[in-house]
Amino acid sequence: MVVDPFPRRLTRSVPAVPDVDRPSSARVYDFMLGGTSHGAVDRRLGREMIDAVPLVIPIARENRSFLRRVVTYLVHAGIDQFLDLGSGIPTMGSTHEVARRVDPEVRVAYVDVDLVAVAHGELLLGNEKGVSVSWADLTRPETVLEAPGVTDLLDLSRPVGVLMFSVLQHVPDAQDPVGVVARYVSQVVPGSALAVSHLSGDDPRVDVDALQTLSGAYPRGEVTPRSGAELAAMVEGVDLVDPGLVYAAQWRPEPRRSGQPEGELCCGHRAAVGFVPG
Ligand SMILES: C[S@@+](CC[C@H](N)C(=O)[O-])C[C@H]1O[C@@H](n2cnc3c(N)ncnc32)[C@H](O)[C@@H]1O
Repeated sequence: MVVDPFPRRLTRSVPAVPDVDRPSSARVYDFMLGGTSHGAVDRRLGREMIDAVPLVIPIARENRSFLRRVVTYLVHAGIDQFLDLGSGIPTMGSTHEVARRVDPEVRVAYVDVDLVAVAHGELLLGNEKGVSVSWADLTRPETVLEAPGVTDLLDLSRPVGVLMFSVLQHVPDAQDPVGVVARYVSQVVPGSALAVSHLSGDDPRVDVDALQTLSGAYPRGEVTPRSGAELAAMVEGVDLVDPGLVYAAQWRPEPRRSGQPEGELCCGHRAAVGFVPG
């Protein structure tokens, strides 16, 4: 019998009609990136954010570019399965597309708490083998790690890349983001990777207060920008690879193409990548 090494495991995990009357981070982010998976309410908030903080689009792109560099790096380092937490809508250069440019057999389990993001993901990835989309809250690691879309697709007895890109600012201090990250690190095997980017609020040109206030329109409320020390506490359980904890734009940047403007961004997100020690 030929065993399909690449079973399709799409969890039909959306239990209810999503709330499309309120803007969502996933859809506003899609709008910022120039995608098409968002509605009028998301565009309205996205435009308000751009008016208040014109750098939000370059900051979103900077984060996406960091995702591309990290995933490429990790696949070259031997990681062939990913758990992408707070993945958003998997369009516009998402993890499986980036990873499969290096290794076409990479598996990716996407997880997001936003019902519309998950529903869009299921539609977009309906024919894609080796990819799943699960509706779950990353602050409940046990639920995430038991979701069928995760357990059926990933082999958690082998190293896995745990990705948390631009999502932990959505987890308030009251939900203990440091403890949440530590639980994932403790539940994956040595050799697994952790990659995090986190809104910093350090760019003097970014009105963080305005961004926070506007993000209060999201169902889960305002984002929380965090300092370098706070991000360091989150990634304490892994051995960071060079260049350590830096701004996302400084993490192994690609050579600048000629004509590309210099110095547009400095510090929208902090970022770090490391491996779980043995
Ligand atoms: C700014 S987007 C980032 C998307 C993607 N990770 C990236 O970097 O391109 C933040 C995403 O995190 C999701 N999110 C926020 N809180 C979450 C939670 N507690 N559990 C899972 N996903 C969450 C949002 O729904 C949204 O899709």
